[in-house]
Amino acid sequence: MADMSLWPDTGLHVAVIMDGNGRWATQRGWPRLVGHRKGAERVRELVAASPKLGIRYLTLYAFSTENWKRSTEEVLGLMSLMGRYIRREASRMSDEGVRMRFIGDRSRLDPKLQRLFRWIEAQTAGNDRLHLTVAVNYGGRDEIMRATRTLAAQAAAGEIDPEAITAAQIDAALDTAPLPDPDLIVRTSGETRVSNFLLWQAAYAEYEFTPTLWPDFTPAHLAQILDRFDLRERRYGGVAL
Ligand code: FPP
Repeated sequence: MADMSLWPDTGLHVAVIMDGNGRWATQRGWPRLVGHRKGAERVRELVAASPKLGIRYLTLYAFSTENWKRSTEEVLGLMSLMGRYIRREASRMSDEGVRMRFIGDRSRLDPKLQRLFRWIEAQTAGNDRLHLTVAVNYGGRDEIMRATRTLAAQAAAGEIDPEAITAAQIDAALDTAPLPDPDLIVRTSGETRVSNFLLWQAAYAEYEFTPTLWPDFTPAHLAQILDRFDLRERRYGGVAL
């Protein structure tokens, strides 16, 4: 593990596709939800470790627009796990300077969970040490579609000129408007797909894929990935910086 104590705050934005909870549980003969529960513990550890790793923005893919196809038991279990996480971690997040946000289409979620999302967002709105964003009922295409509708409505109302729509206006219409683009996207469990995560925002992101299943993924694994990431030369389509 890298010596993290001397790391300056780089304002790094790391996004994670937390994959492999189901396989982790199934390999042990346990219900899939046990894997998700262990996964939520990993989330807690990673949130605590992120500032020490130089991460300012941590964005986690918790539930995709496609995940509704899972069994009702698993969907309800995941939703209640998120509710429990918010209630249990609220005071710790405030103590640790964590600002929590959610991206994705909340309108389909249980109104009680929506209220909890609004509550924790308001409760942590003054925090700035770590920006934790959780993607729930999130899909990159769905997000772009909703942003397009917003811009089209503004154009129809004469508020913006459709001929002059800029990338910055598109950024501002996305769920991620308050966040910088991700620098690094990590996917666990050996899958090497993008899976509809941050499609617009990932234009210049680096990707790292690790075979480790999410319930086994520790801050030490992320520290190793960040060591490799630091060695990469990022060109943003131009010359090396
Ligand atoms: C993917 O593994 C993981 C998910 C769909 C859920 C991720 C949710 C958590 C880690 C817990 C809740 C999150 C927070 C922020 C408290 P999978 O089930 O697709 O695994 P598999 O590919 O092995 O089946």
